[in-house]
Amino acid sequence: MKDEQKNSAFRLSPSSLTRVGIIGCGSIGSLIARGLSDVPALTLAALADVDQAKASKLAQSLTAIPQILPSDQLISQVDLVVEAACPQVVPSILEQACRLNKDVLIISIGGMLDLSPHISTLMKESRSRIYLPSGALAGLDAVKAAAGDEIYSATLTTRKPPKGFTGAPYLIQAGIDVNSIYTPTVIFEGTASDAVKAFPQNINVAAALSLAGIGPQKTKVRIIADPSVTTNCHEVEVTGNFGKMIARTENLPFPQNPKTSYLAALSALATLKKIVSPLQIGT
Ligand SMILES: NC(=O)c1ccc[n+]([C@@H]2O[C@H](COP(=O)([O-])OP(=O)(O)OC[C@H]3O[C@@H](n4cnc5c(N)ncnc54)[C@H](O)[C@@H]3O)[C@@H](O)[C@H]2O)c1
Repeated sequence: MKDEQKNSAFRLSPSSLTRVGIIGCGSIGSLIARGLSDVPALTLAALADVDQAKASKLAQSLTAIPQILPSDQLISQVDLVVEAACPQVVPSILEQACRLNKDVLIISIGGMLDLSPHISTLMKESRSRIYLPSGALAGLDAVKAAAGDEIYSATLTTRKPPKGFTGAPYLIQAGIDVNSIYTPTVIFEGTASDAVKAFPQNINVAAALSLAGIGPQKTKVRIIADPSVTTNCHEVEVTGNFGKMIARTENLPFPQNPKTSYLAALSALATLKKIVSPLQIGT
């Protein structure tokens, strides 16, 4: 059997058992790994992480212990790859997965912007399906529907505790110390395209909103560091021929990782369940 035919035999369908591999065993990857035990159509076959000790620790905590593999081997051995690592790794995962017609769920959605023409072509030519969960954002269902007609504007306002922005390249370059922010401070205003580069680990939601709506150049982003809040708050405002939509989430962060909202992990797990469910709810 040719490789391509063999891989097509693994196409997801509600009735087949799908082998899942997770790349990135941090906050989100761990929640997904545990959550998969409740999804009978999905089996966690493999884990990968640059920090092998993290992958091993997670594997040992699970009832059915998956293999620990390097990322490239994981991609070749599973049917569905879950990226839960970092935006920088997204292009190479997409490239390898698309060559093998493997399906991919990308959580570091910022890595989906500015893909090279080579990878964009591969994605079009491959039979891989690429899933982008809503993450920590509400309202993408409506934005996707609204995009069926003209959208005039799309704006994301993100408000987080200052420590949630620790290590952001934009703040390092500007010499801004998050520990010295004592009042609500607008630390960024610009396009989603620039926001994702400036805050790669904080603002995946800007990329998701852009891709669902009017693109990263037209989507506007405002980021506020606010010492008085304890949640990661995202407010989306979209206007268009459909009318106006405002959606707001006040997300509790993971205790181990204040940059990441708990809802983002739940959203990824919900997307995985939706992939294998005969009932598809929402646009
Ligand atoms: N879409 C969203 O709404 C949303 C929300 C929050 C976080 N995220 C993104 O999801 C990703 C995971 O978030 P998290 O909170 O679990 O992060 P985390 O820091 O807790 O875990 C990331 C894990 O990936 C591993 N890793 C890093 N680079 C790797 C590589 N090249 N190959 C393999 N493993 C690698 C790290 O060792 C770590 O174990 C991040 O990129 C984050 O920005 C997206």
